[in-house]
Amino acid sequence: MRGLLSSLYYGLPAARATMFLVPPLYWFRREAARSILREVVSLKPKTVLEVGFSDAFLTKRLSLALPSSKITAIDTSSGSVRRGKRLGLPNVRFLEEDFFKHRGEYDVVVSMHVFVLFNHRAGLRKLKELGDVCVITLTAPSPFTVLHRPFHRFMTGMDVNLIEPEEYVRIAREEGLSVKVVKINDIERSYMVVLGRKR
Ligand SMILES: C[S@@+](CC[C@H](N)C(=O)[O-])C[C@H]1O[C@@H](n2cnc3c(N)ncnc32)[C@H](O)[C@@H]1O
Repeated sequence: MRGLLSSLYYGLPAARATMFLVPPLYWFRREAARSILREVVSLKPKTVLEVGFSDAFLTKRLSLALPSSKITAIDTSSGSVRRGKRLGLPNVRFLEEDFFKHRGEYDVVVSMHVFVLFNHRAGLRKLKELGDVCVITLTAPSPFTVLHRPFHRFMTGMDVNLIEPEEYVRIAREEGLSVKVVKINDIERSYMVVLGRKR
């Protein structure tokens, strides 16, 4: 049952939109994707890893914006991988893989609204292994995100680890990373974090 709810929730954009009945969510995702794209394009990466692509909302945009980059998109959902492969994006390989088990070295690791599902320190340690620069989005507590949290837990079985940007910066610095924070949306309290491996 949980698997079915989870795949509906993550896998089918139409079902997700209907369940939420909240058009702003789509708007929020567009805003987050735009912020990530702006940053990633400026880095001119040859290789990109996207973590947790789900319905490939960001992947499609990355593929178009970076036609000469090799993009690897991973997700633990087999349905997402199947649907992703059907898109025929020429510079993207879709893999069913767990971020924490993935091995590789990339110019940029990118991820939209996935790292809220992870323990933050564990996520940062793994990011450090995989990418020179990592561009991810997170959300802080707000009336909107606090209401969304139990719903997400019910649908997917996964908790959402909301975190204030200052707290995330502190943990990232403790892990030896450089950090830049860019605000995305005040209602969702979403923000983008650009992490760099200090040499
Ligand atoms: C909240 S959705 C975000 C999806 C998409 N990035 C977006 O913003 O619409 C989280 C996605 O991450 C995937 N995911 C969760 N844990 C993962 C892990 N450990 N490794 C890879 N993907 C994971 C889920 O299957 C799901 O598709």
